[in-house]
Amino acid sequence: MCGIVAYIGEREAFPIIMKGLQRLEYRGYDSAGIALLNGDMTVYKKKGKVKELLDFARDKKTSGSIGMGHTRWATHGVPNDVNAHPHLSGDGRLSIIHNGIIENYNSLKAALVKLGHEFTSDTDTEVLIHLIEEAQRHDNLPIEEAVRVALTKVVGAYAIVVLDQDAPDRVVAARKGSPLVIGLGENEFFMASDASPLVEYTKEVIYLNDEEIAVIKRNGDLQIKTIDNKIQSPFIEKIDLKIERLEKGDFDSFMLKEIFEQPRTIQDCMRGRLSSKEGWVKVGGLEQVVDRVSAAQRFIIAACGTSWHAGLIGEYLFEELARIPVEVEYASELRYRNPIINETDVIIALSQSGETADTLAALETAKEKKALIYGVVNVVGSSIARVTDSGSYIHAGPEIGVASTKAFTGQVTLLTLMAIHLGYSKGTIPRSYYLQLLEELEQIPHKIEKILAKDKQIEAIASEIKDATNALYLGRGYNFPVALEGALKLKEISYIHAEGYPAAEMKHGPIALIDENMPVIVIATNKSAYEKIFSNVQEVKARKGKVIAIVSEGDKEIKAIADYCIEIPDTDEPLTPLLSVIPLQLLSYHIAIMRGCNVDQPRNLAKSVTVE
Ligand code: G6P
Repeated sequence: MCGIVAYIGEREAFPIIMKGLQRLEYRGYDSAGIALLNGDMTVYKKKGKVKELLDFARDKKTSGSIGMGHTRWATHGVPNDVNAHPHLSGDGRLSIIHNGIIENYNSLKAALVKLGHEFTSDTDTEVLIHLIEEAQRHDNLPIEEAVRVALTKVVGAYAIVVLDQDAPDRVVAARKGSPLVIGLGENEFFMASDASPLVEYTKEVIYLNDEEIAVIKRNGDLQIKTIDNKIQSPFIEKIDLKIERLEKGDFDSFMLKEIFEQPRTIQDCMRGRLSSKEGWVKVGGLEQVVDRVSAAQRFIIAACGTSWHAGLIGEYLFEELARIPVEVEYASELRYRNPIINETDVIIALSQSGETADTLAALETAKEKKALIYGVVNVVGSSIARVTDSGSYIHAGPEIGVASTKAFTGQVTLLTLMAIHLGYSKGTIPRSYYLQLLEELEQIPHKIEKILAKDKQIEAIASEIKDATNALYLGRGYNFPVALEGALKLKEISYIHAEGYPAAEMKHGPIALIDENMPVIVIATNKSAYEKIFSNVQEVKARKGKVIAIVSEGDKEIKAIADYCIEIPDTDEPLTPLLSVIPLQLLSYHIAIMRGCNVDQPRNLAKSVTVE
């Protein structure tokens, strides 16, 4: 939800900022802008992708060694040149970039209008820079103090960077609720929404905390204060992020690269966490809190989007293997009802980005009620990772395609490890099954490779159904959340309306939609419910639906009646989602490409949703 990047140092800021914006484009891509301090305040803004801003600014004045840029996902005001960031103060001497929402902008704006301020955009952000201007003008304050005073009046979330034409030796940055990381180079500093724009320049970073303001000067001075004016000691951390992980390599899109990376990312997630030969599984974060977790009366999994689907699989895993009751909640719902949560509950927050505003807020609610908070997160150092009591990283590496793929399988892998660990330590699964699951889990990366090798076959099936306007995904048990995830993938990137359903529920509604134009994707690998799914497939066929079935290798019965079959390797039922989701990812990828859609940056979506 908007990406911000800024630079102060000795180099030309423009190319650094532009490259940084391209790295952050996954956060929003409806318009982009840049501000450079070069004696004047030079600002360029353009509707559309960062590339359009780059083309627009290329032959213009782009000098300056202080600057900042923004790539937007619109909240207040349509995407156009005027609403794009940076926004300027009334006198044009101050500029701001902002990720977040100023919730009380209307009342602030009304007060500022009374004082004579005029606004040109529809954004909440422009109100903030006028507020800073007002604070500066009123008491003749240095810019950092004006920012601090203004922020005391603001309700909402922000990561901001502010430039002042009259203070060309400094950059002021602040955050509350939206991420901001400062990179420390030699005689230079970088600021960004995440570490990806910084990695080629430095490995040393400071993650700004909520309600902190940083003043960074060209001479190397860096001071961090809280909004209530207390000086903080900066905590410098080392990041371990390789640039190749941020590039597409030989792939046409990040999404395809990330789908194909899954054998390795799952391996990375399992590394050091299990050995079937030696018969152990350990999940570091879990061990720190294992007594409280094992004694938990209930797990509540809070998440959004694809992470919520991974959470549903977690419910099946924890209940079956560890006999722990689980509720899976949309974080946005959990935070606004008055949930019954108590000290004996464990809240597991699932989040790829670790920044999703609703998930973060749900954790705050659970924290107040003294539950143990456990994070399962991909982005190292992210906000959720830092507020939890304990947790585990999934180690999927940067996921840049907006539609989540490898983070989903990473989350499911981690939840599987946790469930096996807890099941065995609680004695709810026998040792023989425990060892069998570990052995099978170690085979998963290899089995995924076998599925990826069927890419051409899946592409051919995609070409048969690419013109559909609706699609239905059906699954039972562990494959029901996979059906939801398959439908979401198709919706997100190809704009075909798709629904996921428990296969048996089809009779209670969706069956009315089935005709010869309706592709029905059935995930039919379950051993326990095979006969039932077989009947569901027949019900679809009886109504002339087009069945695409995901079946286990060697399947005969469903294969005989389905229109198309994708065979996947067999595994133990709790591990099935790690395999059955792969063909669905590829299917939606190919359909979207055939329909001419941008799979990495689908319309209206953003990867990291830092607003409500
Ligand atoms: C957005 C993304 C999804 C993601 C969801 C939750 O909608 O487009 O891919 O699943 O947010 O994000 P999180 O980072 O918390 O997993």
